Amino acid sequence: MDFQLKTLTVAQAAAEKSDVLIVLVGSAPITSKDSLSVLAASARKAGDLPDKAGKLLSLYRPDEVVASRVVLAAIGDGKPASVRSGVIAAVGAAKAQQPKRVAIVFAPPADGAAVACAVTAAADASYVYTTTKSKAEPRSIRHLTLGVADASGVGKAFDEARATVLGIELAKEWGNRPANHATPTLLAEAAKALAKLPNIKCEVLGPKEVEKLGMGSFAAVAQGSAEPLRFIVLRYHGAPKDQAPVVLVGKGITFDTGGVSLKPAAEMDEMKFDMCGAASVLGTFRALAEIQPAINVVGLVPSCENMNDGKAVKPGDVVTSMSGQTIEVLNTDAEGRLILCDALTYAKRFDPAAVIDIATLTGACVVALGGVRSGLFASNEALAAALEAAGEESQDRCWRLPLDDDYAEGLKSNFADVANIAGRAGGAITAAKFLQRFAGDFAWAHLDIAGTAWKSGAAKGSTGRPVGLLVSYLTTRASSSVAEKATVPKTSSSKAAPKTPGKPTRKARSAK
Ligand code: BES
Ligand code: MN
Ligand code: ZN
Repeated sequence: MDFQLKTLTVAQAAAEKSDVLIVLVGSAPITSKDSLSVLAASARKAGDLPDKAGKLLSLYRPDEVVASRVVLAAIGDGKPASVRSGVIAAVGAAKAQQPKRVAIVFAPPADGAAVACAVTAAADASYVYTTTKSKAEPRSIRHLTLGVADASGVGKAFDEARATVLGIELAKEWGNRPANHATPTLLAEAAKALAKLPNIKCEVLGPKEVEKLGMGSFAAVAQGSAEPLRFIVLRYHGAPKDQAPVVLVGKGITFDTGGVSLKPAAEMDEMKFDMCGAASVLGTFRALAEIQPAINVVGLVPSCENMNDGKAVKPGDVVTSMSGQTIEVLNTDAEGRLILCDALTYAKRFDPAAVIDIATLTGACVVALGGVRSGLFASNEALAAALEAAGEESQDRCWRLPLDDDYAEGLKSNFADVANIAGRAGGAITAAKFLQRFAGDFAWAHLDIAGTAWKSGAAKGSTGRPVGLLVSYLTTRASSSVAEKATVPKTSSSKAAPKTPGKPTRKARSAK
């Protein structure tokens, strides 16, 4: 689908060649005197188009409009969340007729945030997965024109949103692929393909190299699978070489059976989505390649299957992580943290400004936050604020949860330095506390996307989240003047004074 931004009034949009014209109508009175605006105003007055974002009124061949179908869509206050609801509803309604050309015009003035949300929402509502269907019907919309009264100030937001869509859709594609079409090897090949894009490099390690590095925890999860593990290292260089990078770490379990601590059969198919953290890292790199922001980013993806086998790791086994810490594997289904901990240790070699891991880590996070917000944990206030602000800006929200040391009590083990599970209570937090042990020296955040990375039920499928949040965080950081490296005391714990990775970004500060 290609996107085009144009300066268009509603009257001009009526003259645009398209199959469907969507007019976004805000709460403010419509004063333009062209026939379509007059129609919208009278529909509003009669109560046929309620002023609630997402409400629709469909018209057929109204006077003086080239498109045969018109959808009036309410966007209420015109804020990003409302624009998103209006566009999702309107594109959802329009796509029944398989339109090829769609035009969307804002009746009220629109800023960059509104334009960006319209682009990502239109893409979201029209996305179709096709890869493993023999007679797939691809997305019908080929061209999408976005009209705003004044396009001059919103070009950058539009371009970044378009790039973000490429990233979101790459993440959706890999998330949606069944596990037999998205093995660790195939995921690594997808990462290598990204290295063809400007300023991106990729290196892939296999079982031998991972063993040599001492990643005994990661290797233990992989040992029950016939598929060889892969450790993907992506690099994006947009700033001088000596500028400390942001490191993204994505959980890449291509299928999670639970291992010997086997999961119940119901909905186990959804554990093909257990690599959505990894997919979000690939998607973010896709967007970076397009936007080329002035920042350095490293992407780390430990990827393997969590399977049952004669060689599989067993409850009670003690493994040695790359950090040297020994781990008692009390539950083989808590495997995400076992692969992430070694990747976090590996991250140290980049002397990172910040490290953010992204993982479908716990069912407990789904219970806590549902599918609306991702769980956010952070050892650093500025990083937390910047990620929260990025979530708001991109409408890919997160919610911060605590990291008090008291939550780590249950991770004690009689046979190793740490156990990989605590009790049932506060499961998303105890998982984060486990990870924090391996992220001591740098500004670190953890996004638990177990509830947000995919949808279940009839609309089952990957959401591409949190690519929007990550791209927004990275581009904001790149455009703010300060993005220097963390200076953190070596002996860090969550009780230590807040660590600052440099000044918070402009947006992070204004969000306060
Ligand atoms: N991949 C799962 C987390 C998950 C479960 C995400 C359901 C989305 C829906 C993870 O590897 C896992 O199995 N976690 C366990 C941890 C437990 C054994 C401490 C969980 O959440 O049940
Ligand atoms: Mn698991
Ligand atoms: Zn898992």
